[in-house]
Amino acid sequence: MTWDTIILGAGAAGMMCATQSGERTLVMDHAKAAGEKIRISGGGRCNFTNMYAGPENFLSGNPHFCKSALSRYTQWDFLDMVTRHGIAYHEKTLGQLFCDNSAKDIIAMLRAEMAQAGSELWLETQILTVGHNGTRFTVDIEKSGRRETLTCQNLVLATGGKSIPKMGATGLAYDIARQFGLKITDTRAGLVPFTFSDGRFKAISGVAHPVRATANGTTFDEAMLFTHRGLSGPAMLQISSYWQESQPISINLFPDSDPFEELRTRRQVQGRRNLTTELATLLPSRLVDHLASEMDLSGNLADQSDEALHGLCDALKNWEMVPSGTEGYRTAEVTLGGIDTDGLSSKTMEAKAMPGLYVIGEVADVTGWLGGFNFQWAWSSGWAAGQAI
Ligand code: FDA
Repeated sequence: MTWDTIILGAGAAGMMCATQSGERTLVMDHAKAAGEKIRISGGGRCNFTNMYAGPENFLSGNPHFCKSALSRYTQWDFLDMVTRHGIAYHEKTLGQLFCDNSAKDIIAMLRAEMAQAGSELWLETQILTVGHNGTRFTVDIEKSGRRETLTCQNLVLATGGKSIPKMGATGLAYDIARQFGLKITDTRAGLVPFTFSDGRFKAISGVAHPVRATANGTTFDEAMLFTHRGLSGPAMLQISSYWQESQPISINLFPDSDPFEELRTRRQVQGRRNLTTELATLLPSRLVDHLASEMDLSGNLADQSDEALHGLCDALKNWEMVPSGTEGYRTAEVTLGGIDTDGLSSKTMEAKAMPGLYVIGEVADVTGWLGGFNFQWAWSSGWAAGQAI
């Protein structure tokens, strides 16, 4: 069977590409349903884009690569589509747009647009081998127990990253890209909780607090969550993408205030109060209990000299620790690294050395921050390839 375009992967990027690539497009996926990550994203409500999305919200070996696609298919373009389909949405925080009802609305929208564009979708299809016969790509598949060889002019790699293998993530596109001579940059889990092998935060698991978190020179102001295994919450997920193994992370427990001035004032009027009691009015009390096991918080406020208070406040504003590692691909939202963008056209996503081969979405070495940026990259890169085909 011959096709103009075969898209491997019916996820966010693959489906968006199929809305643009014209008739005689086949999208195939080994999963039972299209867009499974969309379905579970954003707690079932899909944080489908971010009002402030721009190139600065992405990590890549080449930070300029994402600019063209992001500027030609923007968050406002996607929002137009969402609005056209009558999908109700709201801003949760920091420009993050979520569906009011269900992430399934986004999948239904993309399926409707794909159908309108005349593309076909094959689910539960195993991709066995991919090749090129000199003029066309060949794709050997197995579907419903039958093997078949398909050919196409354009082959789009959209099988996503390695995160959450339980949901069907595979490294297929990396292997195919390698086969056609493309380079792969090192991959690792991103937007992922930190772990501490000594289980130091077990007793305060469930405690959350707004912090300023820093790793490798990059800082985010968001909430942090203590867990049985370590640290999570948006602030930790964000800096996990910048963190390198065995590096320290730094946590400022007072991102918006100066505890020194506050404690010094209280010392003047309530000097007999316990230091821990006073700290527990500024921080979650279970967190203060934990801190007391790590640093000297004994005595009354009146016992603390200015120097001691300064030392304590500095420690609370620069709480350093070295995570043992991360939860890895098991729970990571994204894969950092991927198919090297040096080998791709930033305008069309086409491989420079292999005409007709396109790379879109998470499998490329472009990774967004937490907050709707990764879907925006899927929409923008999928649209750019679909337009070029
Ligand atoms: P995606 O993973 O969506 O699709 C790849 C498709 O390829 C899948 O359908 C898969 O089944 C298929 N496939 C893989 N291997 C195959 C093989 N060998 N043969 C056939 N098919 C194969 N981002 C965001 O912006 N906002 C959010 O709210 C969230 N929330 C979120 C929650 C969770 C739990 C996760 C894991 C991730 C997110 N993300 C997110 C990230 C976002 O889901 C991700 O970046 C995009 O889905 C990437 O889109 P792609 O189309 O590139 O891959």
